[in-house]
Amino acid sequence: MATGIWLAGGRGSVAVTSIVGATAIRAGLADTTGCVTELPQLRSPAFPAIGELVFGGHDPASIPLCKKAEALAVAGVIPARLVAALTEELATVEPEIRPVPAAATQLETAALIAEDISAFRYRHSLERVVVVNVSSTEPAPAAHPAHADADALRQALGEPGAVLPASSLYAYAAFISGCSYIDFTPSTGARLPALDALAHRHAVPYAGHDGKTGETLVKSVLAPMFAMRNLRVRTWSGTNLLGGGDGANLADPGANAAKATSKQRVLGETLGYEPQGNTRIEYVDDIGDFKTAWDLITFSGFLGTSMRMEFTWHGCDSALAAPLVLDLARLTAAAHKSGRSGPLTDLAFFFKDPLGSVPHSLAEQWALLASFVRGLADA
Ligand SMILES: NC(=O)c1ccc[n+]([C@@H]2O[C@H](COP(=O)([O-])OP(=O)(O)OC[C@H]3O[C@@H](n4cnc5c(N)ncnc54)[C@H](O)[C@@H]3O)[C@@H](O)[C@H]2O)c1
Repeated sequence: MATGIWLAGGRGSVAVTSIVGATAIRAGLADTTGCVTELPQLRSPAFPAIGELVFGGHDPASIPLCKKAEALAVAGVIPARLVAALTEELATVEPEIRPVPAAATQLETAALIAEDISAFRYRHSLERVVVVNVSSTEPAPAAHPAHADADALRQALGEPGAVLPASSLYAYAAFISGCSYIDFTPSTGARLPALDALAHRHAVPYAGHDGKTGETLVKSVLAPMFAMRNLRVRTWSGTNLLGGGDGANLADPGANAAKATSKQRVLGETLGYEPQGNTRIEYVDDIGDFKTAWDLITFSGFLGTSMRMEFTWHGCDSALAAPLVLDLARLTAAAHKSGRSGPLTDLAFFFKDPLGSVPHSLAEQWALLASFVRGLADA
């Protein structure tokens, strides 16, 4: 039986690159470069095959998948020949990306989301469905007393007004329909005590937060180097220029603040102190999905000698993110199958702002991931 991926934000750049990528791999038109679950050290029979993943989702946008894929090809994110070769396959996914339901209360909206997911599961005879949030980043929501308790949350959701941000409502709908949930964004998602309790109650796992694909990935390799050589990092400042839908959305100060906080966490946690400096994000329409990050690090060594390091990263955001979405879906589906529930902290390798008290160095996160995968194979 196949595994479903339900994408909240199913017509966005990351989602469509993931759909095109998995479809191209199934058709033998692309290899699996960028998918870490295909590395010999991690490959496992516990994972559903990439070619067997079935896609559905929600998005308020109405752009057809084919048009979005063509736009991604024009922008240089995916090869145009793939879009031309996969037109029929994309047309079969098209009706599965549905408009976002809305009802009088959030409880009713969550029930409609859950209904869409269950109908998708039934239509395709899926063994299980992983809900993945790749929708626009939200500003951090105001705290609500019902965020602390699953029963209070259910009651509050039945009253008019917004108790949960959209990312958390997707987590709620996923859990009540027995599905696992991954937050690839810096939004709140399942990061509320009430939702954690709900995940445990329904015996489903969840993972997050905020895919690590660029500047923070480099930081999680370099910061441990400074720490291990006992060099004192005095400042670490970065400027990220990005376009695309994500860049446009991050021009909003609330969403920008959520992202910038998630990007700085690795430094304090890895170095044991907070160097001066900030991460800034600026929107540059013309560069589309290609992100530039410039980082300046000043540090001192033996006898206080001052030194500096600079790096420039030019990454294609969706091409870096999409294979990780496929990896995370395979890992989370396998974890669900093996009976895991609650936060999957061993998947920290993939995230800027990982769940739980976990190491932030990429090498240590890799070791956690490798042992997690071995555990799945033994289960
Ligand atoms: N690309 C990367 O490297 C990367 C890395 C980490 C995190 N992310 C996060 O992934 C998310 C997606 O990035 P993207 O570049 O695809 O952005 P995008 O703007 O291209 O796509 C977001 C999609 O979400 C949809 N959407 C908005 N509100 C929604 C809702 N309530 N329900 C369902 N869909 C909704 C939008 O219509 C849009 O189609 C962003 O939050 C981004 O911060 C991306």
